[in-house]
Amino acid sequence: MTITQVADVIIIGSGLAGLMAAEILSTHKNVIIITKSNVECSNSSMAQGGIAAAIDKEDSWSDHFFDTIVAGSFHNNEAVTKLLVQKGPEMIEKLIELGVNFDRDNDGNYSLGKEGAHQRRRILHAGGDATGKELVTKLIERVKKHTTIIEHETAIDLLVSNTGCYGVITHTQNEQEKIYLAPHTILATGGAGQLYEVTSNCEQVTGDGMALAYRAGALLADMEFIQFHPTMLVKDGKAYGLVSEAVRGEGARLLTEQGTYLMDGKHEQMDLAPRDVVARAIFEQLSLGKPLFLDISSIPDFQSRFPSVTELCIKAGLEIEDGRIPVAPGAHFMMGGVVTDEQGQTTVPGLYAIGEVARTGVHGANRLASNSLLEGIVFASELASFILSANRLKAPLVVLSNRDELKARDFELPNVYEIQGLMSQFVGIVRNKQGLETALQWVKSYEKAIWNNQEYRLKIDEKTICNMLTVCYFIISAALERTESRGGHFRSDAPQLDSEWLQKSLYWSNRQTNPVHDVQLKDDCKPMVGVKS
Ligand code: SIN
Repeated sequence: MTITQVADVIIIGSGLAGLMAAEILSTHKNVIIITKSNVECSNSSMAQGGIAAAIDKEDSWSDHFFDTIVAGSFHNNEAVTKLLVQKGPEMIEKLIELGVNFDRDNDGNYSLGKEGAHQRRRILHAGGDATGKELVTKLIERVKKHTTIIEHETAIDLLVSNTGCYGVITHTQNEQEKIYLAPHTILATGGAGQLYEVTSNCEQVTGDGMALAYRAGALLADMEFIQFHPTMLVKDGKAYGLVSEAVRGEGARLLTEQGTYLMDGKHEQMDLAPRDVVARAIFEQLSLGKPLFLDISSIPDFQSRFPSVTELCIKAGLEIEDGRIPVAPGAHFMMGGVVTDEQGQTTVPGLYAIGEVARTGVHGANRLASNSLLEGIVFASELASFILSANRLKAPLVVLSNRDELKARDFELPNVYEIQGLMSQFVGIVRNKQGLETALQWVKSYEKAIWNNQEYRLKIDEKTICNMLTVCYFIISAALERTESRGGHFRSDAPQLDSEWLQKSLYWSNRQTNPVHDVQLKDDCKPMVGVKS
């Protein structure tokens, strides 16, 4: 096995969090970004809504904090959430310094939008509904001058020894194996939206970071909490993309075929109730075979305020002038993931996670709208400061185990559509014990793919399926274990919040002893589940 490249920092993934970390680190360190697709392709670059921060003089970090933990069903880590909202205005200043152009009103003030579960207008946006694209484009322009960007290479496994993580093994598109070594490896791989049939996530988002981290011995948590965005444009069973919540923030309302407003009487914040509430209300209608629309007729200048949504409508053959967009919920965001502290450190030394792949605890059981781009930049910046002050040795050669002994695959794998069908049917917006047990049994029939895939020489597509099955296993098991409903986890057989579960998380690790000292692991077989209060 030959080493392809040695660096100070390897970043896997090219969304906002990864790019922001590279922007700060690359002036002092030798940084490599490795991405599965091309560098422009990420969930961040598709983000329409914007970035939430308490920059208005009437607003305060404490109001932003309050909205975040109410949306999160009080499952948030309060100290880390406080850090997120307090750092928000400072990070917006930083983005402006880096050349990001946020939209302004006619008086030259930043025009602040409103989205679900926010008590006030605090969302900055750029290019109308193309905020993610503006941020990512600006950062790529800067980062590519100082960073090695490796495109179309897929991370297969992390290189770990008993003293931590020292890099990554990748495959090129023609399955050539490569080895990258560094004392610091950052996962910025996003979530796992592609586990579901309808998703706002791009094609590459298959839960790889969580599966890689698990195999490397890192702790995962809160896997049962999955956010479904209420309004994807879905016409004749085909999903075209996201209709930003900012559309409802500007006055659009959910409309039934009979012409009544769906959210009337359902929640005091009506169409701008927390996403889990709105998504469930839509799901109930659709399950009865009743179509749902977004009534956009009250929004003046829709096409200039929402150019990306307008483009989707055109693609779907809809006329904006008709004022109605057919919608359905889609998998959008994972609140759980790789456990990190407020600096992005996982439980494996030298391995870090930022952005959606990380479970910092800031989103609780349900993320507040437009807090994800904020999370990406805040924790990338915290992590960069940590790495700049850290003194970690380069890789010991012991991590280069002999890969010639890997076996040829001798087990079956399902295809992507089978996984998506199963997850959508049994582990979607509404779950129950029976469905979860059925799903778990199915996933467990691919045992080798989940627990032993590292022993085999697999192609990228095969490894991706193994990663997807691994993440499914934890989502399903956690959803079965959590016998209550909270945020993005709703059980029809346990539909209430249960105070017994307040502030309790389910943790997963393949390590017998875990470096996070206050997690009690219930048994010592694989996988382990623990409850931390
Ligand atoms: C949206 O534009 O509705 C999505 C923004 C977000 O998920 O925060």
